[in-house]
Amino acid sequence: MTTDRIETLLDEQRRFAPPAAFSAAALVRDLTPYERARQDREGYWADWARQLEWMRPWDRVLEWTPPHAKWFVGGKLNASVNCLDRHVRAGNGGRTALIWEGEPPGDERRITYAELHADVNRFANVLKGLGVRRGDRVAIYLPMVPEVAVAMLACARIGAVHTVVFGGFSAESLRDRIDDAKAKVVVTADGGYRRGAVVPLKQNADEAIAATPGIEHVVVLRRTGQPVPMRAGRDRWWDDLMAGAAADCPPEPMDAEDPLYILYTSGTTGKPKGILHTTGGYLTHVYATTKWVFDLKDSDVFWCTADVGWVTGHSYVVYGPLALGVTALMYEGAPDHPGKDRFWAICAKHGVTVFYTAPTAIRAFMKWGPELPARHDLSRLRLLGSVGEPINPEAWMWYHRTIGGGRCPIVDTWWQTETGGIMITPLPGVTTTRPGSATIAFPGIEATLLDGEGREVQVGGGYLAITSPWPGMLRTIWGDDERYRQVYWSKWPQTYFPGDGAKREDDGYFWILGRVDDVLNVAGHRIGTMEVESALVDHPAVAEAAVVGKSHELKGQALAAFVTLKEGLQATEPLREELKQHVAKKIGALARPDDILFSADLPKTRSGKIMRRLLKDIAEGRALGDTTTLADPAVVARLKDQYEAQES
Ligand code: PRX
Repeated sequence: MTTDRIETLLDEQRRFAPPAAFSAAALVRDLTPYERARQDREGYWADWARQLEWMRPWDRVLEWTPPHAKWFVGGKLNASVNCLDRHVRAGNGGRTALIWEGEPPGDERRITYAELHADVNRFANVLKGLGVRRGDRVAIYLPMVPEVAVAMLACARIGAVHTVVFGGFSAESLRDRIDDAKAKVVVTADGGYRRGAVVPLKQNADEAIAATPGIEHVVVLRRTGQPVPMRAGRDRWWDDLMAGAAADCPPEPMDAEDPLYILYTSGTTGKPKGILHTTGGYLTHVYATTKWVFDLKDSDVFWCTADVGWVTGHSYVVYGPLALGVTALMYEGAPDHPGKDRFWAICAKHGVTVFYTAPTAIRAFMKWGPELPARHDLSRLRLLGSVGEPINPEAWMWYHRTIGGGRCPIVDTWWQTETGGIMITPLPGVTTTRPGSATIAFPGIEATLLDGEGREVQVGGGYLAITSPWPGMLRTIWGDDERYRQVYWSKWPQTYFPGDGAKREDDGYFWILGRVDDVLNVAGHRIGTMEVESALVDHPAVAEAAVVGKSHELKGQALAAFVTLKEGLQATEPLREELKQHVAKKIGALARPDDILFSADLPKTRSGKIMRRLLKDIAEGRALGDTTTLADPAVVARLKDQYEAQES
C-alpha cells in the first residue's frame, strides 16, 4: 500500500466533532429535528412551509400518487414575494441582498433588498410588455451578473417559467434547450467575461435563434460593451426597456404546484432532460436547507461559488439565500483571474463567513499551493461546504486546515438537479463529520442503500435510494413523463433512483461513490457520454465513437473518446484537434474530450454492442476485465497497446 493510500485511509477514519463555540451559536444544536421529522414528516415539512408567505394556505401537505407528488396542495404563493417583498415589508429593504464582484478587479456592486425588489418589478413589467404571460417559458443566457437573479425572479413574479442556460454552453446547446422548452423570449448579454476574454453570448444566441422558430424577443444586457448586431423589432436593450418600466408589478398568485423553472441536465441519452421544479415545495426545501445546512444568520455573508447556470446556483445563490433574507455573494469570473488567489481575495474583501464550493476547485487550490490563501485574511470564515462530486479525504483535510484554519466545520452536501435541494449532509452544529462522507440524510429526507433487487444494504456497497417523496423533488421531465418514470422510478417500486453508487459504514454514514450510469461528472459538471458520442459522429470524418470517463487528478473525471474514422481517412494530429473543437462547438467547452484515440475497430459483443467497460479499463490503464463475450478479443488488446503507446 502506498503512503498516500495509507494517509487517505487514516483520514477517512478521523472524526471531527463540531467545535463547541460553533455548536453553541448554531441554529440546530441537538438531534430533535431528526426525531420530529421521523415522527411526523409531513408536519415537519409543513412547519417549514409556514415560514414562507402564502397568499392562500394549503389544504393538504402531500398527495403522493407514485411516481407523482404534489406538495402543499391548494396553497398559493409567489416565489419573488418570498425572496423580496416580505423582507422589504419587514423593514429589511436596506439590507444587502447581493454583493456582486465582477471579474475585472474593482468591478463591484452591492444591491439591497429594496433595490432588487424594484428591479425585479421593473423587469417583470418589461417581460409583460414583451408579451410574456403566466406559464410561458423564458430562456436566460447571461453571465454571472445580478441581472440573472433579476430575470429569474421577474419570471417568477409573473408566473413565467425560466430556463437558465449556462453561459459556457454552445449556440447549439442553447438552441436545443430553447426548442425543447418552447421559449418565447431570450434574455442575454452582449458578452460575458471569462479569464479576461469575452464570451460572445449575443452572437451565440443569434446563431441559436436563427435555427429555432419560436423566439419573439431578445433582451440584451450591456455588459462588455463590444458592438453586437441588434435585429430591429426583435432585439431590445435591457437598459432601454428598464428605463421605461414601472417599478410596481403585482405578483401573480401561483399554485404551489405551478412550474417555477426548467433546468436541463445530462442523462444517458444524447438528449438532455428538462428537469421541472414547481413553486411551493421547491422553495420550502431550499429555504430549509439553506437555513440549517449553512447555519445562516443575518450577520453572514454567504458565498456559493456555483454559476447560476447549474442547479446549485439556482438553489443556493438565488432562491435559498434570498428566501431567507440573508446576504449572498455572487462572483462573475474564474477562480484564477487575474491571479490564482482571487477567491481568497474576495473572501477577505467582503468578509465571507460561509463558503460553498466544489471538490474540483479545492483540488486546483491544493495544487496552486497554500501560500495563496495565506496571503489573505480568511479569519471571518466559520463554515465551509462542498458539493457536486465526491470529495477525496485528502482534499477535505486540506480544505479543513488550509482554508478553514482547522476551526470551520465542513458540510459535504449530496444532492442533484433533480432533487432541487440538499438531501444528504451534516448539520454543522451537531454532526460529527468524517472526511469524504456526506454523513446522513437531512431531517425529513429518507435515504438508504439498496441492491439491484431492492433489498436494503445496512453496511456495505449498493445503490443510493430515496424512499419517500420530498418537497423539492422534480415533478417530471418537461414534455416526457414516460422518461421520468423510466429513469427515476422503474428500478424499484415507489422509490427514487438517483443513479449514484454509495457505501454505508456501521455508523450509518453514507459515502457517495459516483454515478453508476453513462453519466460522467467532469469538474463537477454532469455530461452524458452519449451526448459527446453524438457530437463526435456528427463530424463528417467519424464513423463511430465511444466515450468513457477516466479518473482525473483535478477534474475527478475526464473524457476519453475512441473514434473510428470513415473508410480511407487518415488519423492525424490536426484532425484530433478538429474533433475536440467540434465537440466544444456542438456542446460547449466543458465537454471537450481530453484524449481521442483513433482506432480501426471498437471492442464489441457478438450482438454489436460497444463494450465501454473495457474502454474504461484501457483509458485508466488497468488490466482488461472479462473479454470472453467479445466478437474479436484481439481488437481490445490492440487498442490497449495503441493507447499506452500514445500515452508514453
Ligand atoms: O453523482 C452525484 C454528484 O453529482 C450528481 C448530480 O449532479 P448535478 O445534477 O449536476 O448536481 C450537482 C450539484 C448538486 C450526483 O448524482 N454529487 C453531487 N454532490 C455530491 C456528489 N457526489 C458525491 N458527493 C457529493 N456531495
